[in-house]
Amino acid sequence: MWETKSIISFEDAKAKAKRRLPRMIFDFIEGSAGREVAAEKNLQIFNDFYLRSKVLAPVEDPKLNADFLNYSFDLPFGIAPMGMCNLAWPGADRNLAEAAKTFKIPHCVSTAASSSLEELKKWGGDQTWFQLYVNRSAKEAWTMVDRADAAGYTTLILTVDVPVVSRRVRDLRNGFVVPFKIGLKQFIDFALHPNWSLSTIMKGIPEPKNFRHGSQNSFDRNASRAGANWEFLGELRKRWKGNLIVKGVMDPEDAKRIQNAGVNAIWVSNHGGRQLDGSPPALLALPEIRDSVGPNLPLIFDSGVRSGEDIVKALALGANFVMLGRPIMLAIAASSEKGLNDYISMLKEEIKVVMAQLGLKDLSKISGDVLYDDIYTKM
Ligand SMILES: Cc1cc2nc3c(=O)[nH]c(=O)nc-3n(C[C@H](O)[C@H](O)[C@H](O)COP(=O)(O)O)c2cc1C
Repeated sequence: MWETKSIISFEDAKAKAKRRLPRMIFDFIEGSAGREVAAEKNLQIFNDFYLRSKVLAPVEDPKLNADFLNYSFDLPFGIAPMGMCNLAWPGADRNLAEAAKTFKIPHCVSTAASSSLEELKKWGGDQTWFQLYVNRSAKEAWTMVDRADAAGYTTLILTVDVPVVSRRVRDLRNGFVVPFKIGLKQFIDFALHPNWSLSTIMKGIPEPKNFRHGSQNSFDRNASRAGANWEFLGELRKRWKGNLIVKGVMDPEDAKRIQNAGVNAIWVSNHGGRQLDGSPPALLALPEIRDSVGPNLPLIFDSGVRSGEDIVKALALGANFVMLGRPIMLAIAASSEKGLNDYISMLKEEIKVVMAQLGLKDLSKISGDVLYDDIYTKM
């Protein structure tokens, strides 16, 4: 039943990526804000929810497809926006876009992508979404919105949890800046990982490709992104006719107000713990936000999802769709395109296995009933 895979678990992907990547690059992907407590808790919290197995049910050929917004996806999860993916391995951006097309899942293209939003749309097709940071002035953001529209994007994600880029200790320690500054420390790091270094140099050092026009050329990773405010959201809703999703929401009152601004979906996330180290695990915010916005507003969830079981738990706690960040980038870093495909296939297999244990054939039947109630749940 099981064929040989390059990656059979998250831990596999992480260990292999760690070996292949220079430390500075691995830390950029894996690192988080402050003492990295929030990132750790994002993972641990999944262990505190228990799934109820049901026996003797017909479970063959389960349906894993998910209708979300105006899309019919084959799987209930997708690829979260991540800047500078080509740092994981040359060609990663294209691999992501093409894998999303093959598996029929969404691929979210970051403002800080290492390929242009136009190229990524061409490679990925319909289910490619664009994520917007409102860096510096709103004027630059409007240019980006117009470009996304002209390139044919119909779903826009406004990320709102990075008013200021957080202090990421690993990046500070490693001297990670964009564009790279290569001193002795970085040179040694790269020299110790020749496979990555030679492959990357041959293809050209990745840089944020959406910033090639005029003054935007000088992308500053640490620039304020506080241009995303309530006023901007109101204006964006008026101007963007497609699906509008707000990403990075953790507070039920914020969620209600964002819902009232007329968005199509809210993305519950603490940015994988990369922004506020004192944040509770994002999974705990999910049921609160579901209560606040009611049953009908589509909710996306990310932060700490590593396995098929995690995906099922997030769906049970109120998400309609689930996204993954680090695991996807680490899978590519570990084994390039094969690693990515193996990781997505692994998640698919895991969801199937979990559904069989739960006695379910249809993903849409997942609800809070599959979880043990609070008496068994260490909240
Ligand atoms: C290397 C890296 C780069 C990221 N870049 C962005 C970005 O450009 N825009 C954005 O909205 N989120 C960005 N994120 C956050 C992810 O979209 C997502 O919220 C987070 O990774 C989810 O947590 P997880 O890594 O535990 O799955 C980034 C995350 C990582 C790991």
